[in-house]
Amino acid sequence: MAQKKWTISLIVLLLLFLYVFFHFITVTKQLEKTVAKLQHEQKGTSHLPHVILISQEFDNPYWRKIEQGAKEAGKKYDVNIEYIGPLRTSVDEQVKLLEKAIASRVDGIIVQNLKDEAFTPLIDKAISRNIPVITIDADAPESRRIAYVGTNNFEAGQLLGKAVVSRVEGERELGVMIGTDTSENQRLRLQGFLSVIAQHPRLKVVSVASSNISRIQASIQAEQMLRKHPHISVMAGTSALDAIGIRMATKNLHRQDIQIFGFDDVEETIEAIQQGDIVATVVQKPYDMGYSAVKLMVEHLSGKQIQKEHFTAIEVIDRQNVQQERNK
Ligand code: BGC
Repeated sequence: MAQKKWTISLIVLLLLFLYVFFHFITVTKQLEKTVAKLQHEQKGTSHLPHVILISQEFDNPYWRKIEQGAKEAGKKYDVNIEYIGPLRTSVDEQVKLLEKAIASRVDGIIVQNLKDEAFTPLIDKAISRNIPVITIDADAPESRRIAYVGTNNFEAGQLLGKAVVSRVEGERELGVMIGTDTSENQRLRLQGFLSVIAQHPRLKVVSVASSNISRIQASIQAEQMLRKHPHISVMAGTSALDAIGIRMATKNLHRQDIQIFGFDDVEETIEAIQQGDIVATVVQKPYDMGYSAVKLMVEHLSGKQIQKEHFTAIEVIDRQNVQQERNK
Protein backbone atom coordinates (compact mmCIF):
# COMPACT_ATOMS: atom_id res chain seq x y z
CA MET A 1 0.00 0.00 0.00
CA ALA A 2 2.78 2.36 1.02
CA GLN A 3 4.62 1.52 -2.21
CA LYS A 4 1.52 2.35 -4.31
CA LYS A 5 1.29 5.77 -2.58
CA TRP A 6 4.94 6.46 -3.42
CA THR A 7 4.43 5.54 -7.06
CA ILE A 8 1.41 7.86 -7.35
CA SER A 9 3.34 10.68 -5.66
CA LEU A 10 6.26 10.16 -8.04
CA ILE A 11 3.97 10.24 -11.08
CA VAL A 12 2.29 13.46 -9.80
CA LEU A 13 5.71 15.04 -9.22
CA LEU A 14 6.89 14.00 -12.66
CA LEU A 15 3.75 15.47 -14.26
CA LEU A 16 4.24 18.69 -12.29
CA PHE A 17 7.85 18.86 -13.37
CA LEU A 18 6.91 18.31 -17.03
CA TYR A 19 4.26 21.04 -16.80
CA VAL A 20 6.69 23.56 -15.29
CA PHE A 21 9.36 22.58 -17.81
CA PHE A 22 7.13 23.03 -20.87
CA HIS A 23 5.71 26.27 -19.47
CA PHE A 24 9.25 27.57 -19.01
CA ILE A 25 10.17 26.62 -22.58
CA THR A 26 7.07 28.32 -24.04
CA VAL A 27 7.59 31.52 -22.03
CA THR A 28 11.27 31.64 -23.02
CA LYS A 29 10.39 31.20 -26.70
CA GLN A 30 7.79 33.95 -26.44
CA LEU A 31 10.30 36.29 -24.81
CA GLU A 32 12.87 35.58 -27.49
CA LYS A 33 10.28 36.39 -30.17
CA THR A 34 9.31 39.69 -28.48
CA VAL A 35 12.95 40.76 -28.13
CA ALA A 36 13.64 39.91 -31.79
CA LYS A 37 10.56 41.88 -32.87
CA LEU A 38 11.59 44.89 -30.79
CA GLN A 39 15.11 44.79 -32.19
CA HIS A 40 13.72 44.63 -35.70
CA GLU A 41 11.36 47.55 -35.09
CA GLN A 42 14.17 49.62 -33.63
CA LYS A 43 16.36 48.84 -36.61
CA GLY A 44 13.52 50.03 -38.87
CA THR A 45 14.33 53.68 -38.11
CA SER A 46 17.65 53.92 -36.35
CA HIS A 47 19.76 52.06 -38.87
CA LEU A 48 18.70 54.46 -41.65
CA PRO A 49 21.25 57.12 -42.61
CA HIS A 50 20.33 60.49 -41.09
CA VAL A 51 20.63 63.38 -43.54
CA ILE A 52 19.93 67.00 -42.62
CA LEU A 53 18.57 69.46 -45.18
CA ILE A 54 19.12 73.11 -44.19
CA SER A 55 17.01 75.71 -46.00
CA GLN A 56 17.22 79.49 -46.29
CA GLU A 57 13.76 79.94 -44.80
CA PHE A 58 11.70 77.18 -43.20
CA ASP A 59 8.23 77.97 -44.51
CA ASN A 60 9.11 79.53 -47.86
CA PRO A 61 7.01 77.83 -50.59
CA TYR A 62 10.08 77.37 -52.79
CA TRP A 63 11.95 75.54 -49.99
CA ARG A 64 8.90 73.46 -49.14
CA LYS A 65 9.13 72.03 -52.67
CA ILE A 66 12.80 71.17 -52.13
CA GLU A 67 11.77 69.48 -48.86
CA GLN A 68 9.05 67.50 -50.68
CA GLY A 69 11.50 66.20 -53.28
CA ALA A 70 14.07 65.30 -50.63
CA LYS A 71 11.54 63.44 -48.48
CA GLU A 72 10.20 61.53 -51.46
CA ALA A 73 13.75 60.40 -52.30
CA GLY A 74 14.27 59.63 -48.60
CA LYS A 75 11.33 57.19 -48.72
CA LYS A 76 12.56 55.59 -51.90
CA TYR A 77 16.20 55.16 -50.79
CA ASP A 78 15.60 54.51 -47.07
CA VAL A 79 17.11 57.70 -45.74
CA ASN A 80 15.85 59.63 -42.75
CA ILE A 81 15.56 63.27 -43.94
CA GLU A 82 15.41 66.02 -41.33
CA TYR A 83 14.33 69.36 -42.81
CA ILE A 84 15.31 72.50 -40.85
CA GLY A 85 15.80 76.22 -41.50
CA PRO A 86 15.51 79.68 -39.90
CA LEU A 87 11.97 81.05 -39.53
CA ARG A 88 13.08 84.25 -41.29
CA THR A 89 16.17 84.20 -43.46
CA SER A 90 19.29 84.92 -41.42
CA VAL A 91 22.90 84.10 -42.26
CA ASP A 92 23.75 83.74 -38.55
CA GLU A 93 20.96 81.30 -37.84
CA GLN A 94 21.69 79.24 -40.90
CA VAL A 95 25.35 79.07 -39.84
CA LYS A 96 24.29 77.92 -36.34
CA LEU A 97 22.12 75.17 -37.84
CA LEU A 98 25.05 73.99 -39.93
CA GLU A 99 27.32 73.98 -36.86
CA LYS A 100 24.74 71.95 -34.92
CA ALA A 101 24.41 69.43 -37.74
CA ILE A 102 28.19 68.95 -37.77
CA ALA A 103 28.28 68.57 -33.97
CA SER A 104 25.52 65.97 -34.00
CA ARG A 105 27.55 63.80 -36.39
CA VAL A 106 24.83 63.18 -38.95
CA ASP A 107 25.53 60.96 -41.96
CA GLY A 108 25.18 63.76 -44.49
CA ILE A 109 24.32 67.45 -44.86
CA ILE A 110 22.52 69.21 -47.72
CA VAL A 111 22.80 72.97 -47.37
CA GLN A 112 22.40 76.20 -49.34
CA ASN A 113 25.43 78.52 -49.33
CA LEU A 114 24.38 82.02 -48.29
CA LYS A 115 27.74 83.65 -47.74
CA ASP A 116 31.08 82.20 -48.79
CA GLU A 117 33.12 83.53 -45.84
CA ALA A 118 30.78 81.92 -43.33
CA PHE A 119 29.85 78.70 -45.07
CA THR A 120 33.02 77.57 -46.88
CA PRO A 121 35.10 76.95 -43.69
CA LEU A 122 32.18 75.15 -42.05
CA ILE A 123 31.55 72.93 -45.05
CA ASP A 124 35.27 72.08 -45.02
CA LYS A 125 35.08 71.33 -41.29
CA ALA A 126 32.23 68.86 -41.91
CA ILE A 127 34.21 67.16 -44.69
CA SER A 128 37.27 66.84 -42.44
CA ARG A 129 35.01 65.05 -39.92
CA ASN A 130 33.85 62.67 -42.62
CA ILE A 131 30.42 64.20 -43.00
CA PRO A 132 29.68 64.60 -46.72
CA VAL A 133 28.12 67.94 -47.72
CA ILE A 134 26.10 68.66 -50.85
CA THR A 135 25.27 72.30 -51.63
CA ILE A 136 21.79 72.96 -52.98
CA ASP A 137 20.23 75.99 -54.74
CA ALA A 138 23.35 78.14 -54.18
CA ASP A 139 26.82 76.67 -54.52
CA ALA A 140 30.03 77.12 -52.52
CA PRO A 141 32.48 76.26 -55.30
CA GLU A 142 35.58 77.11 -53.24
CA SER A 143 34.61 74.67 -50.51
CA ARG A 144 35.28 70.92 -50.36
CA ARG A 145 31.58 70.07 -50.83
CA ILE A 146 31.16 66.77 -52.64
CA ALA A 147 28.65 68.18 -55.16
CA TYR A 148 26.29 71.04 -56.05
CA VAL A 149 22.69 70.40 -57.10
CA GLY A 150 20.61 73.26 -58.49
CA THR A 151 20.15 75.83 -61.20
CA ASN A 152 23.01 77.16 -63.29
CA ASN A 153 22.36 80.60 -61.87
CA PHE A 154 24.32 82.67 -64.38
CA GLU A 155 22.37 81.02 -67.21
CA ALA A 156 19.11 81.55 -65.35
CA GLY A 157 19.92 85.27 -65.08
CA GLN A 158 20.64 85.35 -68.81
CA LEU A 159 17.31 83.63 -69.49
CA LEU A 160 15.52 86.30 -67.46
CA GLY A 161 17.35 88.96 -69.49
CA LYS A 162 16.32 87.32 -72.78
CA ALA A 163 12.72 87.03 -71.57
CA VAL A 164 12.71 90.80 -70.97
CA VAL A 165 14.44 91.67 -74.26
CA SER A 166 11.97 89.67 -76.32
CA ARG A 167 8.83 90.91 -74.55
CA VAL A 168 9.58 94.59 -74.04
CA GLU A 169 9.48 97.16 -76.83
CA GLY A 170 11.22 100.51 -77.28
CA GLU A 171 13.52 102.48 -74.99
CA ARG A 172 12.96 101.56 -71.36
CA GLU A 173 14.30 102.11 -67.84
CA LEU A 174 14.52 98.97 -65.73
CA GLY A 175 14.49 98.28 -61.99
CA VAL A 176 15.82 95.00 -60.54
CA MET A 177 14.95 93.33 -57.23
CA ILE A 178 17.34 90.62 -56.00
CA GLY A 179 16.69 88.23 -53.10
CA THR A 180 19.82 88.79 -51.02
CA ASP A 181 22.96 90.71 -51.78
CA THR A 182 25.25 88.17 -50.12
CA SER A 183 24.15 84.96 -51.73
CA GLU A 184 26.01 83.36 -54.62
CA ASN A 185 22.91 82.44 -56.64
CA GLN A 186 21.49 85.99 -56.57
CA ARG A 187 24.87 87.49 -57.48
CA LEU A 188 25.18 85.14 -60.47
CA ARG A 189 21.60 85.75 -61.62
CA LEU A 190 22.13 89.51 -61.53
CA GLN A 191 25.40 89.18 -63.48
CA GLY A 192 23.74 86.98 -66.11
CA PHE A 193 20.79 89.36 -66.39
CA LEU A 194 22.97 92.47 -66.74
CA SER A 195 25.21 90.76 -69.32
CA VAL A 196 22.21 90.32 -71.62
CA ILE A 197 20.65 93.75 -71.02
CA ALA A 198 24.03 95.40 -71.70
CA GLN A 199 23.83 94.19 -75.30
CA HIS A 200 20.66 96.25 -75.86
CA PRO A 201 21.32 99.97 -75.46
CA ARG A 202 17.59 100.74 -75.62
CA LEU A 203 17.29 99.09 -72.18
CA LYS A 204 18.90 100.64 -69.11
CA VAL A 205 19.00 99.27 -65.55
CA VAL A 206 18.69 102.37 -63.35
CA SER A 207 18.29 100.77 -59.91
CA VAL A 208 18.94 97.48 -58.06
CA ALA A 209 17.55 96.72 -54.57
CA SER A 210 17.33 93.67 -52.29
CA SER A 211 14.11 92.17 -50.88
CA ASN A 212 15.76 89.92 -48.28
CA ILE A 213 13.56 87.24 -49.95
CA SER A 214 10.46 88.77 -48.35
CA ARG A 215 7.36 89.65 -50.33
CA ILE A 216 6.65 92.64 -48.06
CA GLN A 217 10.21 93.95 -48.36
CA ALA A 218 10.05 93.47 -52.14
CA SER A 219 6.91 95.60 -52.16
CA ILE A 220 8.40 98.33 -49.92
CA GLN A 221 11.66 98.44 -51.89
CA ALA A 222 9.84 98.49 -55.23
CA GLU A 223 7.63 101.36 -54.07
CA GLN A 224 10.67 103.38 -53.01
CA MET A 225 12.42 102.61 -56.27
CA LEU A 226 9.43 103.67 -58.36
CA ARG A 227 9.03 106.91 -56.41
CA LYS A 228 12.71 107.71 -56.92
CA HIS A 229 12.80 106.63 -60.58
CA PRO A 230 9.32 107.33 -61.97
CA HIS A 231 10.48 106.51 -65.50
CA ILE A 232 11.05 102.86 -64.68
CA SER A 233 8.54 100.85 -66.70
CA VAL A 234 10.02 97.35 -66.46
CA MET A 235 10.81 95.52 -63.21
CA ALA A 236 12.45 92.13 -62.76
CA GLY A 237 12.81 90.05 -59.58
CA THR A 238 15.36 87.27 -59.13
CA SER A 239 13.98 85.31 -56.17
CA ALA A 240 10.68 83.49 -55.65
CA LEU A 241 8.58 86.17 -53.93
CA ASP A 242 9.96 89.32 -55.57
CA ALA A 243 7.59 89.56 -58.54
CA ILE A 244 4.49 89.31 -56.34
CA GLY A 245 5.96 91.93 -54.01
CA ILE A 246 6.61 94.24 -56.99
CA ARG A 247 3.04 93.65 -58.12
CA MET A 248 1.76 94.83 -54.71
CA ALA A 249 3.80 98.03 -55.12
CA THR A 250 2.52 98.74 -58.63
CA LYS A 251 -1.05 98.29 -57.41
CA ASN A 252 -0.47 100.64 -54.46
CA LEU A 253 0.98 103.27 -56.79
CA HIS A 254 -1.60 102.68 -59.54
CA ARG A 255 1.22 101.90 -61.97
CA GLN A 256 -0.43 99.10 -63.93
CA ASP A 257 1.70 100.16 -66.93
CA ILE A 258 4.77 98.46 -65.44
CA GLN A 259 5.81 95.16 -67.02
CA ILE A 260 6.86 92.70 -64.30
CA PHE A 261 9.16 89.69 -64.72
CA GLY A 262 9.97 87.20 -61.99
CA PHE A 263 11.47 83.96 -60.81
CA ASP A 264 9.88 80.62 -59.86
CA ASP A 265 6.33 79.37 -60.00
CA VAL A 266 4.74 80.00 -56.61
CA GLU A 267 0.95 79.91 -56.88
CA GLU A 268 0.45 83.70 -56.80
CA THR A 269 2.96 84.27 -59.60
CA ILE A 270 1.20 81.75 -61.83
CA GLU A 271 -2.20 83.34 -61.10
CA ALA A 272 -0.79 86.80 -61.82
CA ILE A 273 0.53 85.57 -65.18
CA GLN A 274 -2.92 84.22 -66.02
CA GLN A 275 -4.45 87.57 -65.07
CA GLY A 276 -1.86 89.45 -67.14
CA ASP A 277 -0.29 91.21 -64.11
CA ILE A 278 3.10 89.47 -64.45
CA VAL A 279 4.54 89.05 -67.95
CA ALA A 280 6.79 86.02 -67.47
CA THR A 281 8.80 84.05 -64.91
CA VAL A 282 11.94 81.91 -65.02
CA VAL A 283 10.99 78.64 -63.41
CA GLN A 284 13.45 76.46 -61.49
CA LYS A 285 12.89 72.86 -60.40
CA PRO A 286 13.11 72.85 -56.59
CA TYR A 287 11.42 69.43 -56.23
CA ASP A 288 14.02 67.88 -58.55
CA MET A 289 16.82 69.60 -56.61
CA GLY A 290 15.69 68.02 -53.33
CA TYR A 291 15.17 64.61 -54.89
CA SER A 292 18.50 64.53 -56.75
CA ALA A 293 20.49 65.82 -53.78
CA VAL A 294 19.30 62.90 -51.62
CA LYS A 295 19.82 60.37 -54.41
CA LEU A 296 23.40 61.62 -54.89
CA MET A 297 24.06 61.54 -51.15
CA VAL A 298 22.94 57.89 -51.08
CA GLU A 299 25.20 57.05 -54.01
CA HIS A 300 28.13 58.76 -52.29
CA LEU A 301 27.45 56.96 -49.00
CA SER A 302 27.44 53.64 -50.82
CA GLY A 303 30.90 54.37 -52.21
CA LYS A 304 29.99 55.52 -55.74
CA GLN A 305 31.92 58.30 -57.46
CA ILE A 306 29.60 61.28 -58.12
CA GLN A 307 29.95 64.29 -60.41
CA LYS A 308 30.62 67.69 -58.84
CA GLU A 309 27.92 69.73 -60.59
CA HIS A 310 24.32 68.77 -61.27
CA PHE A 311 22.32 71.49 -62.98
CA THR A 312 18.55 71.17 -62.82
CA ALA A 313 16.30 72.47 -65.62
CA ILE A 314 14.99 76.02 -66.07
CA GLU A 315 12.27 77.34 -68.37
CA VAL A 316 10.25 80.48 -69.03
CA ILE A 317 6.52 80.56 -68.34
CA ASP A 318 4.34 83.32 -69.73
CA ARG A 319 0.71 83.71 -70.77
CA GLN A 320 1.22 81.47 -73.80
CA ASN A 321 2.23 78.31 -71.93
CA VAL A 322 0.95 78.93 -68.39
CA GLN A 323 -2.16 76.78 -68.76
CA GLN A 324 -0.18 73.95 -70.29
CA GLU A 325 2.29 74.09 -67.37
CA ARG A 326 -0.57 74.07 -64.86
CA ASN A 327 -2.04 70.92 -66.36
CA LYS A 328 1.29 69.05 -66.13
C1 BGC B 1 16.05 81.13 -54.80
C2 BGC B 1 16.29 80.74 -53.36
C3 BGC B 1 15.53 81.61 -52.42
C4 BGC B 1 14.07 81.70 -52.81
C5 BGC B 1 13.41 82.72 -51.90
C6 BGC B 1 14.57 81.26 -55.10
O1 BGC B 1 14.44 81.82 -56.38
O2 BGC B 1 16.60 80.17 -55.68
O3 BGC B 1 17.66 80.85 -53.08
O4 BGC B 1 15.63 81.11 -51.11
O5 BGC B 1 13.95 82.10 -54.16
O6 BGC B 1 12.06 82.88 -52.08
